[in-house]
Amino acid sequence: MEQPVQTETWKAQSLEELVRILHQIFAEDKVSVDEVQALMESYESNPEEWLQYAKFDQYRYTRNLVDNGNGKFNLMILCWGEGHGSSIHDHTDSHCFMKILQGNLKETLFEWPGKKGNGEMTKKSERVLRENQCAYINDSIGLHRVENISHTEPAVSLHLYSPPFDTCNTFDQRTGHKHKVTMTFYSQFGERTVCVSTRCGAPH
Ligand SMILES: [Fe+2]
Repeated sequence: MEQPVQTETWKAQSLEELVRILHQIFAEDKVSVDEVQALMESYESNPEEWLQYAKFDQYRYTRNLVDNGNGKFNLMILCWGEGHGSSIHDHTDSHCFMKILQGNLKETLFEWPGKKGNGEMTKKSERVLRENQCAYINDSIGLHRVENISHTEPAVSLHLYSPPFDTCNTFDQRTGHKHKVTMTFYSQFGERTVCVSTRCGAPH
């Protein structure tokens, strides 16, 4: 994904157009992180376009698949109720783009724990991402936790993962111990996913 041949400036006028351009970009062998980030940031969030995917749960944030990117990426909408947050997690050697569609999300960056994972994890930085901003992370940058710290406003974010993955590691902040988890979709293409096990809605 490094060293693109050429970086073009795109502007996505709608979610549909954003998806179309993403397909074009990811059809190439080399994809520029900066280009994808700029493209996702260029889309001005319009709730009418994404409301069909935004399905909330009372107890935890949800992952809702929007597009499977022809196998090259997964595009999904995450819905965060008041106070909902993720655990500290990695990204399975994939690229992760996170754009805010509504509300604010706090991102806290952590260093990878040492091999044995003993003791409190080291915080590197924290920031608040606001509507239409697009953040980027991969495993070489570190680990993160994402939270809607508002007690009054829900938040909605648009995530692109490439290549797609369905397992990742979560980390215990106090010990650094990691735990492999399988992730599921709360809905796919606007339809609620039928839940066959109690593990539905496992951590992102
Ligand atoms: Fe993440």
